[in-house]
Amino acid sequence: MNTNNNDVKAVSVTGLGMMGTTLARLLLQAGYHVTVWNRNPEKAAQLVQEGAILAPDAAAAVKASPVTVICVRDYNAAREILGATEVKAVLPGRVVIHLSSGSPKEAEEMETLIKAQGAAYLDGAIQAAPSQMGRPDTPIFVSGGTPAYQQAEAILRVFGGSVTYFGGQAGAASAIDLATLSAIYGTMTGFLHGARIVEAAGFPVDKYGALVAGITSTFGDFLQHEANVIRSGNFEISQSPMKISIDAMERILQQAEDAGIHSGFPAYAAGLFRQAAKAGLENEELAALIKVLR
Ligand SMILES: NC(=O)c1ccc[n+]([C@@H]2O[C@H](COP(=O)([O-])OP(=O)(O)OC[C@H]3O[C@@H](n4cnc5c(N)ncnc54)[C@H](OP(=O)(O)O)[C@@H]3O)[C@@H](O)[C@H]2O)c1
Repeated sequence: MNTNNNDVKAVSVTGLGMMGTTLARLLLQAGYHVTVWNRNPEKAAQLVQEGAILAPDAAAAVKASPVTVICVRDYNAAREILGATEVKAVLPGRVVIHLSSGSPKEAEEMETLIKAQGAAYLDGAIQAAPSQMGRPDTPIFVSGGTPAYQQAEAILRVFGGSVTYFGGQAGAASAIDLATLSAIYGTMTGFLHGARIVEAAGFPVDKYGALVAGITSTFGDFLQHEANVIRSGNFEISQSPMKISIDAMERILQQAEDAGIHSGFPAYAAGLFRQAAKAGLENEELAALIKVLR
């Protein structure tokens, strides 16, 4: 098998947890020459049977290919691997695609470490479970130098068809990852509070789930409208006056108290809306709540 450094179809994968193993397997299936390394080498056994080459150490793995994909638990683990003297010695001229989850600050620091060795750096965030990888709609966020992105794009598209490149700032992909996760966890918290309202009222939670699923697409359109309002800077009422939400949050908080259910979520949200009222934003579009958050 050809693992020549100049072979654009040669890729090394470091970190063979659930995600790294999936990434290596997808590359093998796509016809790449794949060299792998994992701290615990036993995890490479199956991939070797499928055609991967097991490198004896991380430096040998990096040396085997022009592009190295690293996907380990976190940035501390990645720093331990990529910051080792023997690995740094073989980094010059290579591209590192880092797909562990982390913060924008960690991404920028990692870029500094990698660039100092004369290698190019791309930082990515995967928004899917291992079983969802490799599909046309699998979302991958990536940022870092444009030449490196151009070199690595085909590899990223093996991992997921929906690759979004956010430009040269290495921390951008992590920032967008955290922003979308914030939307998901915020929605989830509100959804679960709603489930407690439903439970306390004696209605089946699965029917509530179906009702919420039914409005998800319309809600998506509404979120896009509010984002457009923020971008435009024009907070004149266009769809949803703030005062409706101020009153609704007070009712949701009151219901939590009346029904004797946990009031943490509505108390927090009502607190934000009270600040909006105090700031005189009642007669602006709902998106003006961002002025409180600013
Ligand atoms: N799984 C998912 O659904 C998912 C989805 C999106 C993003 N991600 C992200 O992908 C990354 C990997 O996730 P995973 O699910 O593959 O995790 P995992 O199955 O727990 O695997 C963790 C990997 O990190 C390695 N590792 C941990 N500490 C290390 C260290 N100090 N030195 C060297 N290697 C070390 C482990 O090596 P050993 O085998 O030797 O312990 C293993 O290869 C994480 O950042 C995760 O947030 C995962």
